[in-house]
Amino acid sequence: MREIPRVEYRNGYKTLLVDGEPFVLLSGELHNSSSSTTAYMEPIWGRMKALHLNSLLFPVTWQQLEPVEGEFHFELVDGLIAQAREHGMRIGILWFGTWKNANCSYAPDWVKTDLERFPRAELEKGRRFQEIPLFDFHLSYTTLSAFAEETTRADARAFAALCAHLRDTDTQRTVVLIQVENETGLLGASRDHSDLADAAFSQKVPSELIDGLLARGEGLVEDIRAALEKRREGTWQEVFGEAADEVFMAWYTALHIESVAKAGKAEYPIPMYANCWLVQGTKPGQYPSGGPVYRVMEVYQTAAPSLDWLAPDIYIPQFCETCERYTKQGNPLFIPETALHPGATARLIWAIGRYHALCFAPFGIDDIGDLMDTSLGAAVGMDASDAMLRQRLDPRVYARANELLQGLMPVLTAHYGTDDLQAVIREDPERDSMAFGSLRLAVRFGARGAEDAPGACLAVRTGENEFYLLGCNCMPRFYSLDPEKPYVEYLTIEEGEFREGRWALRRVLNGDEEILRLGEPTLIKVRVHPFA
Ligand code: DGJ
Repeated sequence: MREIPRVEYRNGYKTLLVDGEPFVLLSGELHNSSSSTTAYMEPIWGRMKALHLNSLLFPVTWQQLEPVEGEFHFELVDGLIAQAREHGMRIGILWFGTWKNANCSYAPDWVKTDLERFPRAELEKGRRFQEIPLFDFHLSYTTLSAFAEETTRADARAFAALCAHLRDTDTQRTVVLIQVENETGLLGASRDHSDLADAAFSQKVPSELIDGLLARGEGLVEDIRAALEKRREGTWQEVFGEAADEVFMAWYTALHIESVAKAGKAEYPIPMYANCWLVQGTKPGQYPSGGPVYRVMEVYQTAAPSLDWLAPDIYIPQFCETCERYTKQGNPLFIPETALHPGATARLIWAIGRYHALCFAPFGIDDIGDLMDTSLGAAVGMDASDAMLRQRLDPRVYARANELLQGLMPVLTAHYGTDDLQAVIREDPERDSMAFGSLRLAVRFGARGAEDAPGACLAVRTGENEFYLLGCNCMPRFYSLDPEKPYVEYLTIEEGEFREGRWALRRVLNGDEEILRLGEPTLIKVRVHPFA
């Protein structure tokens, strides 16, 4: 029997192990409705395999799993797992339960129609939904309340049934992890105003939360740290002041997720995480209040120890800053959703090289080659003003980056958590070089006429003066930092790739090609020689 996928610290860094080996999801997230039938999925698998992805992320929904209370339907999930196996791919399941984009559209009918047993959050007393204007019509938003025990119990029971089924049937470990819920939180108000929520809001802040936050002191955002310096006991309002509503919502939302994840892990302990609709606008409620935005990551870490990490869905132009934020407090970088535009290739290379990412998954990957549909814009967490969103990602280029990364992956993961694996990206103007002991690798962007193209370069040191470089639209060059040996020359430069674990040489580069100009994703193996 194969080992259950798990998380283990390697080099002090959280690593995902599948079949006992480090596994990085070179992935994509499917559109929300694609995995609702195996027939629709049939032609998609082959196209995804051709992109050299090793996995796909897609929803398994409460609506389809438990259409009648207590009756579970596993045929769809079984069919999807069988299709993945046929194509030699792994799956990350997204559990669309109580929340999907701060909404409850994936709850089954018996939950949606019983407003007494499964109450909705109230944006103000008595108001359970809001309409967000979109073109000349409106989108309606309504959310189950995080404060209703029955909702948590029902969601946890369905999720546990799914996990028990995977434990009993997925002996090949095709499913490697599960996202618990999708983009939690409340839109339209900074907190739930239902009677249940009001009663909880008038209570004292639980001491476990205060202790958990204090234990994570350094990484706390300024206003929350300042609040705790002044006062450590009292109601939510008394302790957290202006941040009270968001901290309160985060605590109770995370407690709900914890109950669901814990019930699932009791059946089948595979890695689990929660994803996040990032901060947009200035106030919670303009973005979902209570989701794991970076301001409240520590609240989630305290309330939901069953989650292995918190993951940002990055559609905003501040990609680099978001990655940095989501690696605080020992959180590994896992990107379950990001924009499917020409910047994705460089971002993939950089996320792996710079942050040793566990997953990179552009959203709507089944549409690769088409323009992203930005028409829903902010209503689904997208910053439609980002000009790159109006450009197509070339599937051939993206596939090549994945192919090279897949081959190099054992070398890369052996250096996860160490300074031997680094990267720079054009969109981070702060860093344009990497230091490896007494060698500096400087990178200039724009090459082969692609002057404005997004570019990135990762480098992994495999010996004192030996490296693999994987880059696109960049010109890397070594310099010495050693005054005793101030000059650097190349000994050998090989362009190639790993095939079935072996280095396959394509060309030996010298002469004009010694000035490295990487256009489309290229893998280079170099040995350099510092001398005086
Ligand atoms: C974020 C959500 O998590 C996804 O399910 C999807 O709605 C995308 N936004 C954009 O379409």
